[in-house]
Amino acid sequence: MSRPDHSRTPVLQRAHRLLPPFLRKRPRIDPRRPQSDIQGLVLHGYKIMDAACFLLLRIEEPSKARRWLREILPEVTTSSDKSSEQRSAWKTSLNLALTWSGLKALGLPQAALDTFPTEFQEGMPARADILGDSDESAPDKWDFGGSSGPAQQGELHLLLMLYGTTPKEVSSLVAEHRRRLEEGGLRELGSQQAARMRNAEGGIVEHFGFRDGLSQPQIQGFREGKHEAPDHTDAIKPGEFLLGYENEYAETPDSPSVPATLDVKGTLSPRADRPDWKEFGRDGSFVVVRKLQQNVEDFQRFLEAHKELAVGDTDERKKQWLAAKLMGRWPSGEPLRPGEDAPPTHARSEKHWIDNSFGFNEKDPDGYGCPVASHIRRANPRDSLPPSAELSLQVSRRHRILRRGITYSDDTGKGMLFIAINANIARQFEFLQQTWLNNGKFGGRYDERDPLTTHGAGRLTLPSQPVRRCVEGIARFVTMKGGGYFFLPSLRALEFLAHLEPKQAVS
Ligand code: HEM
Repeated sequence: MSRPDHSRTPVLQRAHRLLPPFLRKRPRIDPRRPQSDIQGLVLHGYKIMDAACFLLLRIEEPSKARRWLREILPEVTTSSDKSSEQRSAWKTSLNLALTWSGLKALGLPQAALDTFPTEFQEGMPARADILGDSDESAPDKWDFGGSSGPAQQGELHLLLMLYGTTPKEVSSLVAEHRRRLEEGGLRELGSQQAARMRNAEGGIVEHFGFRDGLSQPQIQGFREGKHEAPDHTDAIKPGEFLLGYENEYAETPDSPSVPATLDVKGTLSPRADRPDWKEFGRDGSFVVVRKLQQNVEDFQRFLEAHKELAVGDTDERKKQWLAAKLMGRWPSGEPLRPGEDAPPTHARSEKHWIDNSFGFNEKDPDGYGCPVASHIRRANPRDSLPPSAELSLQVSRRHRILRRGITYSDDTGKGMLFIAINANIARQFEFLQQTWLNNGKFGGRYDERDPLTTHGAGRLTLPSQPVRRCVEGIARFVTMKGGGYFFLPSLRALEFLAHLEPKQAVS
C-alpha cells in the first residue's frame, strides 16, 4: 500500500507537488486496515511533534477548493501504523477538519447536512450557556470561531492542522500551504501557533506546571496496549471515538450520510438499512477545539495567598501541595494517594511509567488523597460515583474523550489549545464540561466547580484530619478565547468531497 511520505523535506515535498497528479502517491485505503481510512490525529496524537500551526480558512470558491482538496489528499496523514524506524524519520503531519458551514460551502447538499447532530450544526458559540462561556469567556470576545470578528463562526470553514517536530518544519509547511491557498479558492482568516512544552525529562507539561497527556483511553481493536501507561479500565469501544462503530451502549448510532447519487466515484460504503444513502461519517470523528488562556500569574498568586492552608515544610512544598489538590495529581503527574503529603520520588536512572491504573472507590472514596472536586476526578470520576464502582465505571466509560491538546504562547497570552476527539460532542465533551467540570453540586458538593478550568470556581473543600480544609476565593484561572466544533472526515469522505460534481454540489 502506498502512503504519503512525511519524511520528505519541504523542498522534496514541493518537487513532489510539481508532478502530474497521476504520478503522485495517492492514499490508498486498505479495507483490511481501517486505520488507513482514519485521519492521523485520532490514533497518533503526534506527541513526537513539538510544534503546530492551525490555519483558519474560509472557502471562497467551492470548485477551486475541491480541486485543492484533491491535490492535498495524498498529504493527509492517516492513522496507519508506522514502524518505529519510519517514525524517527517522520517530520510533519497534516490533517484537516471542517465546520458545518464549511461542509455546506464545499457543496454538501442540505439533505446530507441535516444528518449531522444538532450541536455540530449549531456550532460552539450557540452552546455558550451549556459550556459556561460567559463574561470574559463569552463568544463575542473570542479571537476566532466566536460571534464577531473576521474568523467568526459561519465564516470559519476549514481548519488545516499542520504539525512538525520543530518550529522550522512547521514554518516551511505553513509557507508552502499559504502559497497554495489563493489558487485553492481559500482565504486565510487567521492562524494559531502552538508548541509543546517539555520538562527536564522530556515529559509534556502545561503552563500551570503539570505533566499532561497522561490519561488517555485505549480503543478496542486499535493500538490496544501500545500506550505508555495502561489505562485504569479495559479498552473503550471504538464507537466512542469513531463514527460507524459500536459504542459503550452496544449500539452503532446513525452517522452522517449522503444520498448515494452524489457518490459518482463509488468512494463511500452503502448504508445497510438504506441502500439509496451512503456512509459519510464512518471512520470520521468530531474535533472540539478550545483556545483556553491560562492566567499563570493569578494561579501563582492564589497559591501564595493560600499556602498557609497547605501541608509541607517549605513554602514551595506547600504551594505544590495546594496546586496538586486543585489538579488531582502531583505536578510530576503522579497520582495523589491518601496519607501521602509529598510526591513519590524516583531515582533518576529508574525508568518508570506514571501510574494511570488507579481507581478511587476502594482506597480513596472520600477524596483524602485526590479531592472529589479536583480537575481530574471531575473529568474522569473512574469508579467513584454512587451507587457502585461497577456502575460508575460504566458511566465513566461513556464520557471519555481523546485529548490532543497542545500549549501555545503568543502575543495574545499563553494557554492550552484544548483539542478533544469524540464521536458524540453532546454526550462526551459537552457533558464533561457541563455536568462534571462546571457543576456546582458534583460529588455532593455545594457551589464548587472545577477549580482549574471553570470561571470563578469559588471554593474547594479538601477533606483532611482532624478537620476538613476549605480553600475560598478561587478566581478564574482559565479564559475561553476561541474555538469551534469540527468534523474530521475519513480519507474516503475527503475523497468524496473532493470529487463532488459541481452540478450536484450547491455552490
Ligand atoms: C487550560 C485548561 C486545562 C488544563 C491546563 C488541563 C490540564 C490537565 C492535566 C495536567 C491533566 C492531568 C494529566 C493527564 O491525565 O493528562 C488533565 C487531565 C484531564 N483533563 Fe484537563 N486540562 C484543561 C482543560 C480541560 C477541559 C476543558 C477538559 C474537558 C472538558 C479536560 C479534561 C480532562 C480529562 C478527561 C483528563 C483526564 C482525567 C483522567 O482520566 O484522569 N481538561 N488535564
